[in-house]
Amino acid sequence: WAIHAPYVAAINRLKKERNAVILAHNYMTPDIYHGIADHVGDSLQLAIKATEVEAEVIVQCGVHFMAETSKILNPAKTVLMPDMAAGCSLAESITAEGVEEMRRRYPGAPVVSYVNTTAEVKAASDICCTSANALQIVEAMEGDTVIMTPDRYLAQNVANQSSKKVVFWPGSCIVHELYTAEDLRAYRAHDPEVKILAHPECTPEVVAEADFTGSTAGIIKWVHDHKPAKAMLVTECSMATNISDELPEVDFARPCNMCPYMKKITLEKVLYALHTMTGQVEVEAGVAARARVAVEKMIALSR
Ligand code: 13P
Ligand code: SF4
Repeated sequence: WAIHAPYVAAINRLKKERNAVILAHNYMTPDIYHGIADHVGDSLQLAIKATEVEAEVIVQCGVHFMAETSKILNPAKTVLMPDMAAGCSLAESITAEGVEEMRRRYPGAPVVSYVNTTAEVKAASDICCTSANALQIVEAMEGDTVIMTPDRYLAQNVANQSSKKVVFWPGSCIVHELYTAEDLRAYRAHDPEVKILAHPECTPEVVAEADFTGSTAGIIKWVHDHKPAKAMLVTECSMATNISDELPEVDFARPCNMCPYMKKITLEKVLYALHTMTGQVEVEAGVAARARVAVEKMIALSR
């Protein structure tokens, strides 16, 4: 904090001057999460918050698809991305052509695309979903078969709970796919009291070992509600650090798989973006209009 305090103060001052708000994902480092964010949350909460922003400028502390979602929902506002290279292995795994390929393979089946996709992929899809509402969205689709893109594990985890046949694109998250059920079993054998909380981007085998599976906000809520003596968050490692101060009674086991994309966002880059107003996210108007339909349908079904 001693080192970062001048950056935090400068960013918070500039936010006022620029009429900006900072929307930050739960995976941001604690200096961003606690020091400069106006709103923190999972992808769904951040998308909903983006529909409520009154400020002229949104600074997205997260990855590029999140900034695109904010821009899609706010075409007239300036959306700043502190580092344009903050991508996502899922978003990079599929293009709009991939969605069309799935439609050709499964004629008539609706396409549910994870928000971890580009605006072009959202525009080619019928509706979006996040980890918080994927099952609910799939269940709301007409017909027996639903196409999910691009996360194979989220799709398999949904399929295990759904009455629908779920077919999917074979993408994966480079952070969550690293966790193995074997590691979790070994940890539980060593520490039987631990509560294991997993993100649905993990494999179905990992999810089967978990005491609870949910979005990042879902996991945080579960820990607040249950206050287990020991918790292991099977997700990106900044999250345990961000919430541990407010939960002193919980002992967090901290496996650390870091998202290299999320970690591209730093205080220095946020300050630079706000100072120079560079890193403005643009989405072509036609693409944005079609993507907005898919995102807004999801939000309407999630309220
Ligand atoms: P949440 O929507 O659960 O926050 O997940 C976003 C993400 O990128 C997880 O890896
Ligand atoms: Fe993408 Fe995985 Fe990083 Fe989330 S944690 S942004 S899904 S690579």
